[in-house]
Amino acid sequence: MRNFFNTLLGKKSPEFFDVIKGRKSVKYFDPSSKMKREEIIEMLDEANTAPSSCNLQPWRYIVVDTQEGKEKLGSANFNKIQNDTSAAMIIVLGDLNYYSKFDEIYGEAVEKGYMTKEVKDGFEEGMGPQLESLPLDKNREGVYFDCGLWTMQFANIARAKGYDTNIIGGFIRERVAELFELEENLIPVMLIAIGKKEKDGRPTVRLRAEKLVRFE
Ligand SMILES: Cc1cc2nc3c(=O)[nH]c(=O)nc-3n(C[C@H](O)[C@H](O)[C@H](O)COP(=O)(O)O)c2cc1C
Repeated sequence: MRNFFNTLLGKKSPEFFDVIKGRKSVKYFDPSSKMKREEIIEMLDEANTAPSSCNLQPWRYIVVDTQEGKEKLGSANFNKIQNDTSAAMIIVLGDLNYYSKFDEIYGEAVEKGYMTKEVKDGFEEGMGPQLESLPLDKNREGVYFDCGLWTMQFANIARAKGYDTNIIGGFIRERVAELFELEENLIPVMLIAIGKKEKDGRPTVRLRAEKLVRFE
């Protein structure tokens, strides 16, 4: 019924469940299909709606959409077909120094009236020292988790806009850090290939929740 009204109103808004069921990992993209950088920026911004620990948003990204960039990334990516045929490859980076954005994020929240300055100061006193003294493995764990949420959000947004993606963990992280001359605080977490599909993703199986769940 909602689809009917959307059509009537000329709105393109696919149903949420169609989006998540329609997302499949696509390996072969149409190499002639390019994306405008403004459109990619818009999608990155939309994916920034993902939740993150203390809303500190540790995700950063490099959009690789040039031939030269693709070749560079290709030498660290085991997924050659996606690398070569996608409209863009997104390198999702985690910033271990995410706390450096505290003032920018919480300051804007105060300006906009979402929280008082006292609440911001309280956060700063309470969580600042804790976050800044986290052991590296705990810090990486949190950053990976948040970047994973962002990655999923991005993949679904891409699908909602008629694009396909492949989330890719099969690449050499150290090599990407070297090739793209990343600062020490930036860790490559994931790659996302995005474009218009040339071949459908393969059907895949899911375990049934009833076999995984425990109620107490
Ligand atoms: C963390 C992560 C890493 C992945 N790495 C790769 C990869 O290196 N190469 C690849 O072809 N697909 C990769 N995938 C895609 C999975 O193989 C795919 O999501 C899974 O088989 C389910 O298929 P579907 O996404 O089409 O539902 C990865 C997915 C995730 C979430």
